[in-house]
Amino acid sequence: MFDNEITIDSRYLQTCDIPTSEAGLRPFTLVIFGGGGDLSQRKLIPSLFHLFVQKELPSPFSILAFDRIELDDNHYRILMKEAVKRSSQTSFDEGRWNQFGPQLFYLQGNFQKDEDYSRLKEKVDRIGVPVSGAKNLICYMAVPPQVVPLTVGKMKDRDLCSGPYNMKIIVEKPFGEDRKSAAELNRILIGAFDENEIYRIDHYLAKEPVDNIIFFRFSNTIFEEVWNRRYVDNVQITVAEDIGIEHRGAFYEKAGVVRDIVQNHLLQILSLMAMEAPIGFTPDFIRDEKMKIVNSIRPMDEKYIDRFIVRGQYGPGTIEGETIPGYRSEPNVSAQSNMATFFAAKFYVDNLRWAGVPFYLRTGKRLPKRITEICIQFKRLPLRLFGRTCDVLEPNVLFLTVQPDEKIALRFHVKYPYSGNQIYPVRMDFSYKETFKTPLHLPYERLLIDVMKGDLTLFVREDTIEQMWSIVDPINARWESEPPDNFPNYEPGTWGPAEADDLLAREGRAWLTS
Ligand code: BG6
Repeated sequence: MFDNEITIDSRYLQTCDIPTSEAGLRPFTLVIFGGGGDLSQRKLIPSLFHLFVQKELPSPFSILAFDRIELDDNHYRILMKEAVKRSSQTSFDEGRWNQFGPQLFYLQGNFQKDEDYSRLKEKVDRIGVPVSGAKNLICYMAVPPQVVPLTVGKMKDRDLCSGPYNMKIIVEKPFGEDRKSAAELNRILIGAFDENEIYRIDHYLAKEPVDNIIFFRFSNTIFEEVWNRRYVDNVQITVAEDIGIEHRGAFYEKAGVVRDIVQNHLLQILSLMAMEAPIGFTPDFIRDEKMKIVNSIRPMDEKYIDRFIVRGQYGPGTIEGETIPGYRSEPNVSAQSNMATFFAAKFYVDNLRWAGVPFYLRTGKRLPKRITEICIQFKRLPLRLFGRTCDVLEPNVLFLTVQPDEKIALRFHVKYPYSGNQIYPVRMDFSYKETFKTPLHLPYERLLIDVMKGDLTLFVREDTIEQMWSIVDPINARWESEPPDNFPNYEPGTWGPAEADDLLAREGRAWLTS
């Protein structure tokens, strides 16, 4: 029993407290704009198929892809079957595919053309489930942000966004390219939908260890009590990728690392790490707390940006004998490009819990390994209690590893056995794989199910997405107005330019990895 003698359940039930089997998922029609593209092939259709195999999708359903490529229903099914086979981590279930495939449909269309939206509406009416009555339509915008306003406007003109279509809309990142465009996009979306029908995606939020952050923080006294400026020396968040920009040169030349990763994934993780406990586990109580953090991030002027934010771009090199092209030689990238592929920075969260505690963020392409990890470095004890030979040199660190191996580790010290009085650093490890022995849901599976349930917790709210742009817009502006004179400045397979290490070294710290 708690001190305050409250024994009743929380007043607030989060939608995800309801098991999917009891959530009453209703038959749906999913329209994917950009349904022939990369995201659909690599993530969306494989996730939907996997959910179908796991019997997690309601029945019946239909999926309609709208895209420019010339295909018909049949060809689309063949293309997607190959895509699912490619991305499948287990063996491909031919029998289940034969049941799933016929629910896929395709409409070739031009995002600009009015008549193509009329054809879309006809097709939705024809294949949409249920065939008559309310449709329960979900629209997935897997298209560049500039296309979204156009598409929403044209759907609205055809009364698809409301009434019997009962539509929800999912908008992929990047959501705009700066605050102004994001606000305009929000204005258009809110003109056509209620805020609670808009699902702005950040797939990092659906990675199990990221979703776990607030559960871990607010269910463990021993961590929650020390999660503040009195005990924490600094927090580090790393999103490192070993891959380059792959075939996305045209996109990356417009986005760069700040729009691609910092504005969304890194800031969302930071807000989960820093937020206060919500007053209940409902989407908006949680999103309210995250919003307060985003609002408390110290604004950065040009002097601050020059001093505490490091940019980098990878050059050519070799990794394990393989020749790696530099960013400037990637397809669809300018040979003089100044786009950054690496970012390291010190941020401050100016509230009472975190005043003075640095949050170091770093991310980049072509780094030594793929790892997303959060490290909380605790302060050293105020007194050198032991003799010189056995003093504690390393601080306690808590590692929350998001990928590739989902785990939590705590570094602490013990006395080295036997005669000497020596302190020895050891680790306590928890691994999802070893403990739960079952594969975790892939992020897009979780997100699609949450949309069907109507759970907005893992989706970014209008005010937050705009404020996140306000944080990074000055960085992009500064970098655009002051082109770098040293690009490319790091070799593939390294941890970025030396300045990223200096950023911490000059404050007596270093980047940590588990
Ligand atoms: C996407 C970025 O949001 O996240 C990509 O656009 C990046 O550039 C990807 O590669 C990383 O996601 P994950 O889930 O593979 O870590």
